[in-house]
Amino acid sequence: MMSRSPEKFKVKYGPCALVAGASEGLGAAYAEALAQRGLNLALLARRKDKLETLARTLREKYPVEISCHPVDLGDYGQAKKIIGALDVSIGLLVYNAAYCPIGLMEETSEDQLAQVVAVNVKAPLLLAKLLSAKMIGNHRGGIVLMSSLAGTQGSPKLAAYAASKAFNAILAEGLWQELKPHGIDVIASVAGAVITPGYRQAQQAKAPGTLTAREVAEQTLKALGKYPIVVPGGVNKIARFFMGRLLPRTLAIKLMSANTGSLT
Ligand SMILES: NC(=O)c1ccc[n+]([C@@H]2O[C@H](COP(=O)([O-])OP(=O)(O)OC[C@H]3O[C@@H](n4cnc5c(N)ncnc54)[C@H](OP(=O)(O)O)[C@@H]3O)[C@@H](O)[C@H]2O)c1
Repeated sequence: MMSRSPEKFKVKYGPCALVAGASEGLGAAYAEALAQRGLNLALLARRKDKLETLARTLREKYPVEISCHPVDLGDYGQAKKIIGALDVSIGLLVYNAAYCPIGLMEETSEDQLAQVVAVNVKAPLLLAKLLSAKMIGNHRGGIVLMSSLAGTQGSPKLAAYAASKAFNAILAEGLWQELKPHGIDVIASVAGAVITPGYRQAQQAKAPGTLTAREVAEQTLKALGKYPIVVPGGVNKIARFFMGRLLPRTLAIKLMSANTGSLT
């Protein structure tokens, strides 16, 4: 399942990966996939108990060091302080956390919209800057940003979230080229439906092309260093081509609207 040997992966992206939004779902799957490759982990999320349970489980399975850091990534100043105090060298940033209020903008508060920007835009942008500075000095490293098929076109009822996911994809493309000469790989993972607690909360029915968190984490880490964008899953690759390239924008937005209309 792993394309590169764990040794090569560890040399390129070790000794420690920081997973932002690691307590469950896809973040936890990234943490396990990275521990399996021998990377030590710094795990960030709000829920300390969930982080510690995950860390205990991974320590029992893999010979790696793991530290847990409860923090709201919407508070960048706090996150920066915690990361600044870490006594480890971060060779890989996986920014997975996201906030997705569902509903029309008129029903969404200013605070909720500001939190979308803080968690989904400001934090990945500034953490990419903060952590890549050290990586540039080391002439190696990697950055993984989570994007979404929802960010391929306007997505009614998820408008701000979808726009924030488009931001991450475009950011990754730019940094992919900028940081390449420094030996740093950047990728955005444009995921379709992934079975996670967050997804189950929003959507009861299983969408076509739904993947497990493990599948998304593995396909993304396998593509890191090869491409600026990965779309995990064959059905999702076709969906992105169809929605992003083949259909007129107006039709793609209407189709997306038919999908997101049932979200609660
Ligand atoms: N699931 C999908 O179908 C899907 C599809 C496309 C893209 N994605 C993307 O994949 C990523 C993960 O999605 P998911 O479904 O796994 O989400 P999730 O189940 O809601 O989990 C998100 C993780 O991020 C953490 N998190 C959320 N807000 C945070 C905050 N303010 N500060 C710190 N940590 C925070 C959560 O932990 P705490 O609650 O403990 O803080 C949790 O560990 C997101 O970027 C999402 O946009 C998901």
